[in-house]
Amino acid sequence: MNAFHVPRDWRDAAARIERAQRGRILVLGASDRGKSTFCAYLAWYLLRRGHRPAYVDADVGQKDIGPPATISLGYPALNRPLETLPPAALYFVGAVTPLAHLLPMVVGTRKLTEQAGRPFVLINTSGLVTEVGEILKTFQIDALQPDWIVTLERDWELEAIVAAHRHFPVLRLAPSPLAQSKSPELRRQRRLAAFRHHFRHARSWRIPVSRLILQRLPVGESQPWETIFTPNRLCALADRRQTVLELALIRGYDADNHRLTLYSPAQGDCAVLQLGDLHVTLA
Ligand SMILES: Nc1ncnc2c1ncn2[C@@H]1O[C@H](COP(=O)(O)OP(=O)(O)O)[C@@H](O)[C@H]1O
Ligand SMILES: [Mg+2]
Repeated sequence: MNAFHVPRDWRDAAARIERAQRGRILVLGASDRGKSTFCAYLAWYLLRRGHRPAYVDADVGQKDIGPPATISLGYPALNRPLETLPPAALYFVGAVTPLAHLLPMVVGTRKLTEQAGRPFVLINTSGLVTEVGEILKTFQIDALQPDWIVTLERDWELEAIVAAHRHFPVLRLAPSPLAQSKSPELRRQRRLAAFRHHFRHARSWRIPVSRLILQRLPVGESQPWETIFTPNRLCALADRRQTVLELALIRGYDADNHRLTLYSPAQGDCAVLQLGDLHVTLA
């Protein structure tokens, strides 16, 4: 561990957080400021001192744990990169950007944080921090009531969010000088690799649409099923308690028999199909 640079103020922040023996730590920052790196460092710091932190990964586009388009819950372990952790729970957002998906972002982050069940919960967030991102962060803070807000900021881009929440304990950190941008192409490749990994044990199966409770259908005017059940549309399968069991891709729709062909690693009682807003080509 510690393959990365740990600035002095990162270490001081970790020590302050650890001293409280518990807390929700919400990490904010624009893209590539080092949110994931700081979270990995803080998880390592806490694990080394005998704590067993939980990690809620709400950066739907550049995930550390679990597949993109979801919020995930995981339990970090020493000597294990976050990317190799199996998600303990997923909440489906259905898109790789929070834009136009603010409600599932807020509800999902809150649900998984409450489910985490550990004294320390680290919460990583998307890099969207201005305009709509400011709204998202405002309501995530309100929904989560974090014990610490950790900011990683280079050009005062978080100023408005911090000013509006200065009554919370805010730890304002500088990004490491080693923080570097990921190109759009690299981001796309990382997402594809994460989806491929998630679907590596998937198989295709057919199911009558009538056996599924459909959620997140387009609202407003009714649309023909063919325009909803489009090939490669990303969905989530959930049980009757709304717990996401697995992701699925729509492979085909048989209009004559009103049957879907789904491609998914899911097994068991999938009562609910939640439609996403994203099409994923794994090949
Ligand atoms: N403290 C650090 N030491 C070394 N590399 C870093 C550090 N902080 C960030 N980086 C590098 O910068 C890039 C962006 O950091 P990352 O943690 O992925 O940012 P974010 O999660 O905010 O998008 C990554 O390649 C990461 O390895
Ligand atoms: Mg990240």
